Amino acid sequence: MARGRGDQEESRQLSRDMVALRGLSVVYHQKNATVEALREVTFSVGRGQTAALIGPSGCGKTTLLYVLAGLIPATPGEALVNNGPASAIRRQTALILQDYGLLPWKTVWQNTILGLEIRRMPKEQIAERGERILRELGLWEYRQHFPAQLSGGQRQRVGIARSLALYPDLLLMDEPFSSLDALTRENLQDTLLGIWQRDRVTILLVTHSIEEAVFLGQKIVVLSPRPGRVVAVLENPGMGQIGFRKDPAFHQLSNELRGLLGQGAWTGPGLPQTDLKGKEV
Ligand SMILES: Nc1ncnc2c1ncn2[C@@H]1O[C@H](COP(=O)(O)OP(=O)(O)OP(=O)(O)O)[C@@H](O)[C@H]1O
Ligand SMILES: [Mg+2]
Repeated sequence: MARGRGDQEESRQLSRDMVALRGLSVVYHQKNATVEALREVTFSVGRGQTAALIGPSGCGKTTLLYVLAGLIPATPGEALVNNGPASAIRRQTALILQDYGLLPWKTVWQNTILGLEIRRMPKEQIAERGERILRELGLWEYRQHFPAQLSGGQRQRVGIARSLALYPDLLLMDEPFSSLDALTRENLQDTLLGIWQRDRVTILLVTHSIEEAVFLGQKIVVLSPRPGRVVAVLENPGMGQIGFRKDPAFHQLSNELRGLLGQGAWTGPGLPQTDLKGKEV
């Protein structure tokens, strides 16, 4: 059957997106209760783009990353990564969790090259790639240290180093900098921005911080309280500009986002109101 204009439009759109969610809903089934985490979430992230996902606690942000990492099935709805169904065996997807899962009994070096060893990469290549990544992230001097001997910021860097060593094309990050002080946090945001500007890896970053969302997201997806629905998708064309943190556009968008996240954003028509625990009222 001949493909209609709509189909062609759709496939052209598909090929540009690294991440595409369509009508994604997730319900957790427990013994005596069901928890609706996400409801009909639709948005996309273009190849090489960055997107920040922001919303109140418990609205399903981590759940959404798990779906994209293939750890939770996308039903009902659709979750595509690089035009295929999200899958846990997709090697180019890296999921960076809040605690990084560093192995405490292994050194910085051993933690960094773990994934490369699991994939049985030749020793010389491991040595070359591991050194390059650790130098890039300012960790080379710490390669013999164990995680307990590092600061919080350094530990986060090891987690990022370990993921980057695998040359992902999609980085899913779950509040990666949330436990850090403001300066360390900005420093790591700059590092991540630099890596993105060089490699153009697609990044979907979950954050609670308005400034972080505006600094790192070319697109900012705002979710409602549970069940998480898309309240707004903001475009952020100034992201990545030198000195963006001091730019009026940065503050304007931060304020807009603050307004959206404050009261009222999810009490509009068509969206059920929720109480503080996320229960529908
Ligand atoms: N395995 C599970 N079984 C049942 N309910 C779950 C499970 N995992 C998460 N939930 C519930 O689903 C909802 C969404 O959880 P999720 O962790 O995705 O939220 P979040 O937006 O990441 O929250 P936070 O900002 O606090 O990290 C929450 O109400 C949570 O209690
Ligand atoms: Mg979470």
